[in-house]
Amino acid sequence: MDIIIRENYKLMSKYAAEIIAGYVRSKPDCVLGLATGSTPIGTYQELVRMHREEGLDFSQVKTFNLDEYLGAGIDLEKPYPMDQSYARFMHEELLKNINIKKENIHIPDGRTKDPKKFCIWYEEEIKKAGGIDLQLLGLGGDGHWGFNEPGSSLGSRTRVVVLTQQTLDDNYEAFYKKANIERSEMPHFAITMGIGTILEARNILMIVNGARKADMVAKCLEGPITSQITASAIQLHGGEISVVLDEGAASKL
Ligand code: GLP
Repeated sequence: MDIIIRENYKLMSKYAAEIIAGYVRSKPDCVLGLATGSTPIGTYQELVRMHREEGLDFSQVKTFNLDEYLGAGIDLEKPYPMDQSYARFMHEELLKNINIKKENIHIPDGRTKDPKKFCIWYEEEIKKAGGIDLQLLGLGGDGHWGFNEPGSSLGSRTRVVVLTQQTLDDNYEAFYKKANIERSEMPHFAITMGIGTILEARNILMIVNGARKADMVAKCLEGPITSQITASAIQLHGGEISVVLDEGAASKL
């Protein structure tokens, strides 16, 4: 496992984007697992810059997102401003700004009528694409990956989950509140890739910033592997792992 510490958020984001760009350059039809949250925004901005200024080519890249709120999701042709779905987030922050083909984008469908069936289909699509080459991950305040809340099995697959109070609070502050959405209107359920699904990605890139996550970073990387901190499963992965941190996030290592 490579742990890379950069001075600040901007440099952390640049480093992470460079790792992703390396995959895209060396394997133009690579399969990327993507994440949401405030952490990857800088990384996505840097990838957009590389696409515009350096011609980084996403025309053959396939993407699979980790998760989506259940009940949320957009018609990408007609996004509406109140929508806080991860589909909208991905569209705004990255996908509409690069030359990726629409048919190569996969984001769990938060508006599916049959979530169970959808989750099985999603897993099959990942397999059909040949598996994920590089999975980008953030770290939830309670140590989760995707929406694999404390207590999720480390062998779990794509499924419907109930969000914990902490995640609802964190994500309300970061996204829903800013969009003037009432707390009660925020979705409480989500679809997420499981920890077992994530661990099947060939390589992993985790990015974390800010001193408020320093304790969780230390527990995740140096503490026991436990379903109470699902990101601690990173220690079980046998591929290439890069953990890119800013100084705040690394301060308890
Ligand atoms: C959400 C996402 C996670 C993400 C986490 C951290 O819960 N489902 O994938 O890692 O938020 O978010 P942030 O980067 O805003 O701290």
